[in-house]
Amino acid sequence: MSYTIAIAGARGLAGREILSLLEKDETFPVGRVRALGRGRMREEDNLPWRGGKIPVETFQASLEGVDLLFLCLPPQAAREVGVQALDAGAKVVDLSGAFQEGPLVVPELNPWALEEAEGVVRSPNCTSVILALSLHGLQKTAGLGGVVVTTFQAVSGAGKAALEQLRREGEGKKAVPVLGGRIAGNVLPWVGGSSSLPGRSREEADLAFQVPDLLGQEDLVVEATCVRVPVPRGHCLSVACRLGEPITPEGARDAFESVPGVEVWKEEGSPTPDQILGTQEVWIGRIRLSRALDPGLLFWVAADQLVRGTALNALGLARLMLRGADRPG
Ligand SMILES: NC(=O)c1ccc[n+]([C@@H]2O[C@H](COP(=O)([O-])OP(=O)(O)OC[C@H]3O[C@@H](n4cnc5c(N)ncnc54)[C@H](OP(=O)(O)O)[C@@H]3O)[C@@H](O)[C@H]2O)c1
Repeated sequence: MSYTIAIAGARGLAGREILSLLEKDETFPVGRVRALGRGRMREEDNLPWRGGKIPVETFQASLEGVDLLFLCLPPQAAREVGVQALDAGAKVVDLSGAFQEGPLVVPELNPWALEEAEGVVRSPNCTSVILALSLHGLQKTAGLGGVVVTTFQAVSGAGKAALEQLRREGEGKKAVPVLGGRIAGNVLPWVGGSSSLPGRSREEADLAFQVPDLLGQEDLVVEATCVRVPVPRGHCLSVACRLGEPITPEGARDAFESVPGVEVWKEEGSPTPDQILGTQEVWIGRIRLSRALDPGLLFWVAADQLVRGTALNALGLARLMLRGADRPG
């Protein structure tokens, strides 16, 4: 069985990354790929696909025959396209946050939640995916009592316009401040808009709500300070967590690596965005016992957020959704 897959927002950073992973993944049951985008469709904008090119169609194109749609649009534009796809009988993997009604899933953590999906599954915020995966081994081994995290988030997390802002500012040119302030040579300790949690940004609230949900521990308190840094790609996190019971650094290493795709950094130093670019793992470094939280652990995390936090998760969800669609009812 092979499927027709569509990507809405295929020319954006998330959409392109999904297309690129899909292109390389020979095990994914893809028959035809369709790319959807806005604006004027010129031939030079066609996207590369397995030695050929695929045209970018407008959102007016019929979605009949599409089995699954990746929704990689800004939330305000995503809902209408998602509903159109559902009406045409497609499954939807929502990366935009426009749909609140589907389950939030990371295949390595809570695949069973997909049972609740009625057409739509939500891929979490990429930072939530990375943090939840990094905590899961400790949760299983020692229990989690609370988490305080500071993030160092790459500019590409805010889309291609933000990357353009970084590039222009770096060249000393005027730029549209889509990140809310200058980013070249600077850090911005507020990521995303405001939220329902007093004093917390949207990104901080996503971590506070999504990570306990993904870990199946609703009473887990996650306190985050999210910071945008002038790095093109690759998110880092400094994590402090209170544990249910003591653990040794060696025990913690084993616990981290018990989760598929989570690796302790074995080379010299600590994992950095530059070193882990393009990789599919969540990398853990600087593991040490906390002196302030007892029992507690401090560690560092780095991951390519476009690959691990975004495209890989979305592809995993698509695979599960399509497998579910094949199951006899
Ligand atoms: N970047 C990440 O690390 C990341 C991670 C997880 C989730 N996401 C989510 O994925 C979605 C896309 O993010 P991105 O980083 O790929 O952004 P992006 O690079 O800015 O791309 C956005 C895409 O949406 C299209 N678009 C923008 N405004 C539109 C509108 N009003 N109507 C229709 N189409 C519109 C753009 O079309 P054009 O090509 O014509 O400009 C582009 O293809 C967002 O909801 C974001 O929160 C992003």
